[in-house]
Formats: sequence, C-alpha cells, structure tokens
Amino acid sequence: MTTKTISVTQTLAQLGVTRPTQASPLFAALRREFDRDAEAAREEAGWKAFRDAWLGRKSGVLAQITENWLKPAPPELKRAVGQALNELRPHVEAVVEARRAAIEAGAEQAAAARERVDLSLPGVERPIGSRHLIRQTFEEIERIFLALGYTVVEGPEIETPYYNFEALNIPEHHPARDTMDTFYLHLPPGITPRLLRTHTSPVQVHAMEAQKPPVRIIVPGKVYRRDNPDATHSFMFHQVEGLAVDTDITFCEFKGTVEYLVTQFFGPTVKTRLRPSYFPFTEPSAEVDASCHVCGGSGCRTCKFSGWIELFGAGMVDPAVYGFVNYDAKRLSGFAFGLGVDRFAMLKYGINDIQLFFQNDVRFLRQFP
Ligand code: PHE
Repeated sequence: MTTKTISVTQTLAQLGVTRPTQASPLFAALRREFDRDAEAAREEAGWKAFRDAWLGRKSGVLAQITENWLKPAPPELKRAVGQALNELRPHVEAVVEARRAAIEAGAEQAAAARERVDLSLPGVERPIGSRHLIRQTFEEIERIFLALGYTVVEGPEIETPYYNFEALNIPEHHPARDTMDTFYLHLPPGITPRLLRTHTSPVQVHAMEAQKPPVRIIVPGKVYRRDNPDATHSFMFHQVEGLAVDTDITFCEFKGTVEYLVTQFFGPTVKTRLRPSYFPFTEPSAEVDASCHVCGGSGCRTCKFSGWIELFGAGMVDPAVYGFVNYDAKRLSGFAFGLGVDRFAMLKYGINDIQLFFQNDVRFLRQFP
C-alpha cells in the first residue's frame, strides 16, 4: 500500500524541483496518493499501517517531507513548500481520524449484528421430570396410612444380621434365611458382619427399640436380594413395612386394616382373603390375597384363572420379637405386614415387567406423569 511513486527520501533538488511553482503539482500528486491509500485502509490492521506510513514520527511521509524536502530547501522554495505542507497536514490528519472512526463504527455494527438477540425465537425447552411410578406408589400407600394415624419411619439399608434376622426370630441356620439370598458386605474379619437388608422388617426392631408402645408406623424403603433379574425379580426392589403394637390390638383390627389398605389402593369392589402362611416373626401368619381386579374374580390371565392374586405377607407379631426389644409380650399385641411396592404398582397399572421400573425409558415413565 505504501509503495510511494513520489520519493520523500530524496531532496527536492534530487527530484528536480527547483522553482516554487513546481511545489503545488508535486503536493497535489502526493495528496492523490494519500487519498488512494486512505480508500484502501478499511480494516483496523490496515488502518494502523496507513496511519504510520503517513503520520509516523520518524519515517512517516509528512515527517520525511519536513526532513528531506523542507529543511534542506533553498530559501526561494521554502515558503511554497512550507505552505503546501501546512495544507496537506490537516487533510491527512482529518482523513486518518475519519477512517478510524468509520472502522470502529463498522466493527461495532458487526458486533451488534453478531450479538443481536432475536426475541421472537422460541426458547429452549427444558423438560420437567415427574415422580417415578414407584415413588408415586410409595406416596399413595403412605397417604392411606397417614389417614389412619400412622407415622412414616425409615431405616438403614445396610444392616447387621441381628436386625435383619436374629431379632426377627430368625436364628442362624434357620431355613428362612435361605429363602432370602442375602448380599453380604466384604469386611475384614473381626468386624460385625453387614448385609444389605433383605426386607424392611428390621426397621420394626429399630422402631420398637426407639420408642415405647403404642407404635403405628409404616416403613418405605429399598430391599436387596440375590435374585437374577427377570420380569418378576430384581436384586433391588421396594417394600413398605407396617407395624402396629398396642395393648389391645386384635386379629380383627389387623384384618380390618389390611382390607382398608387393599380397597383404598385397588378399589372399593376388591375383596380380601387371608390364607395361612408362615413367617418366623409373626404368629399366626397370613398371605393376603385380593380378588382379581382385572376379571373381578371370575378368572383371567392376570390371576392365572384362580380369581385371586397373592398380594403380601402379614400376621400378628410373634411374642418372641417383643423379647428382643424389651416389650412386655403379656401386655402387648400387634400386627405387621410387608408388601412389595413394585408388585403393587405392577398389578394396579398392568405392568408385566419389573425391569421397566429400573430402565428409566422415558417412553415408559411418561405414561405415569
Ligand atoms: N418381611 C417379609 C418379607 O419380606 C414380609 C412380612 C413383613 C411378613 C411383616 C410378615 C410381617 O417377605
């Protein structure tokens, strides 16, 4: 850009300028050259070189004119050259400044265009999740029992064998231990063994240790068993434990409470049936069945054509359990139950694979907003 056709490094004499009248066309040509340069200086970087080429303190064109043309000029030329230079200088300064301002304004405009916010664009939609069906089912069961005056209590998922088994009247080598394939923690020898609770029943023991009767609690939580995953098994699933202990709790209250739960959860027309069963920590023990809510009891695939569906285990608290928590077995009575939340949800909502609860496929989850 700054290849000057007019050499400012030479003196006027060397350029062949000897008379005052020759100064004006020389400066006019110089000015045209400057204007061409100015035209080309459209970006910030080019502008700096342009400014330095013309206004640089040592080697700028104007400085060189002063140095090489004006200072050594003979007296007869000095006046004309000085005047022409004084006319050129403000032009150069004004144009350099004007180019700077134009470049700056252009850059600002470009930046503004880049950063412009289009208020008409639709916003980024952040989907809001909903509570998982298992969570919803927990809450539905809690709601039913809170209305009966029960309290919700939680307990640890890592337990000692004492709470998971012994205090529930399941001594070592009792066959009931085998039915609950247990995850044990790998711990150094000499430390009390720990396991992942296989049911929520150990919280019965914690609760009775922590409070005097009467007790009316439900215990929601996760439980773990060494089952291979399939449509009805998972190594982790969910239970709600119930426990009521007071001075005069009868089998009748037990049955009434269980029936209330079933009708509240599955619907008012569903019937309840108790079948004799066995648990080491209840006596008598029962399996609670419900009449099939799908066929109404006439028999279908859901109830395997029996008209009944097995719901959960329950029973009157075995007096042996009271012994472990220093409750007076002669004065007190009560009942307990432990239900599978996953199973409850599957039956109510017609879900045929427990694994769906754990895969977190939104196509499944969205069906239960
Ligand atoms: N804890 C038992 C189980 O998980 C269920 C149960 C709880 C049965 C309370 C009776 C009383 O299989």
